[in-house]
Amino acid sequence: MHILHVVGARPNFMKAAPVLRALAERGSARQTSLAQTPLRQTLVHTGQHYDASMSDVFFQQLGMPAPDVNLSVGSGSHAQQTAEVMARFEPVVLEYKPDWVVVYGDVNSTAAAALVCAKLQVRVAHVEAGLRSRDRSMPEEINRLLTDQLSDLLFTPSSDGDANLLQEGIAAEKIHLVGNVMIDTLVRLLPQAETPGEVARLGPFVLVTLHRPANVDDLPWLREMLMAMLEVGRELPVVFPLHPRTQQRIAEAGFLPANDGRLRLLPPLPYLEFLVMQRAARVVITDSGGIQEETSFLGVPCLTVRENTERPITLTAGTNTLVGRDISRLRQELQRVLASPVPGACAIPLWDGHAAERIAKVLCS
Ligand code: UD1
Repeated sequence: MHILHVVGARPNFMKAAPVLRALAERGSARQTSLAQTPLRQTLVHTGQHYDASMSDVFFQQLGMPAPDVNLSVGSGSHAQQTAEVMARFEPVVLEYKPDWVVVYGDVNSTAAAALVCAKLQVRVAHVEAGLRSRDRSMPEEINRLLTDQLSDLLFTPSSDGDANLLQEGIAAEKIHLVGNVMIDTLVRLLPQAETPGEVARLGPFVLVTLHRPANVDDLPWLREMLMAMLEVGRELPVVFPLHPRTQQRIAEAGFLPANDGRLRLLPPLPYLEFLVMQRAARVVITDSGGIQEETSFLGVPCLTVRENTERPITLTAGTNTLVGRDISRLRQELQRVLASPVPGACAIPLWDGHAAERIAKVLCS
């Protein structure tokens, strides 16, 4: 049994790490039984994210093995990046001949790898299947739709995912509700995420992340958001780690607010340092999918600067509120959250730290 995993961008690493680990544990158990064939795993990094701060540091902190293959595709337009992954991944699949290829999430590398496998008739398992924003202007929505149609096994994080897949005509026997693998990583590493004195001394603060093209490529809107954050900073300190795309756009907009201690613009943070900040924040403002989930698990209020979410469970059972691209709504919701007690951690079914074990069980059976 040979399982090949494909990762490419920052959010993939937190999802793949627990699956690699759960399969390795099953593999070592198998090797003690002569009746079983050994389990082999191969890790392919497409190189979609390549800066040390977006990739290497996550491998280190998550305790992941170094990739066996790095396709080094780098950045480009959607077509260029997707095509590069396909062209460079195909010979790897032909050489390694895996029994299963496991792909994660909804980034360009995910859809590209799934498409290569479908054409080569190699079986694909999709981790984090079934999520839908119903907004096809989001490149990730296209990647989700395509990957799910091409996959032979679909591992969903919540029951809305199952309903979406069934509605799209995917056979029920391919779908497995396993829970959220990103929460597996969070549960494992939370004990290591101790709040340093420097963060404790900040007192209540607002944590911000923005990286979606809809928010950061629209420079007048980005400028408006930064102005709003400067204004929020007069009330509570604002900590804003910048994705490289956001960093570039702020530079292009020629609008760099002074790092005066009230609004702190930081480089991208490693996993543990960001977890510390999320746990300690009074409220998080974001457009990230994963952060909507992590804040729900941690019980930290989250205001999402998007019109929709592919993770509706974070609205109904978590701490998430959609504020759209609307500064006055953002201000209003921020005041509401700050005037309300801190919500407790939310228990969402199967977001329990064991999703990867359930995936490993299905893959090995
Ligand atoms: C990608 C995913 C998005 C995910 C995000 C997490 C797609 C379509 N988008 O968006 O779903 O939420 O990752 O971070 O797959 N760059 C660097 N260094 C890097 C990587 C990127 O400087 O290591 C810069 C480059 O200028 C690049 C830009 O960031 O052009 C965007 O990178 P890209 O991978 O195309 O998309 P993300 O915005 O990171």
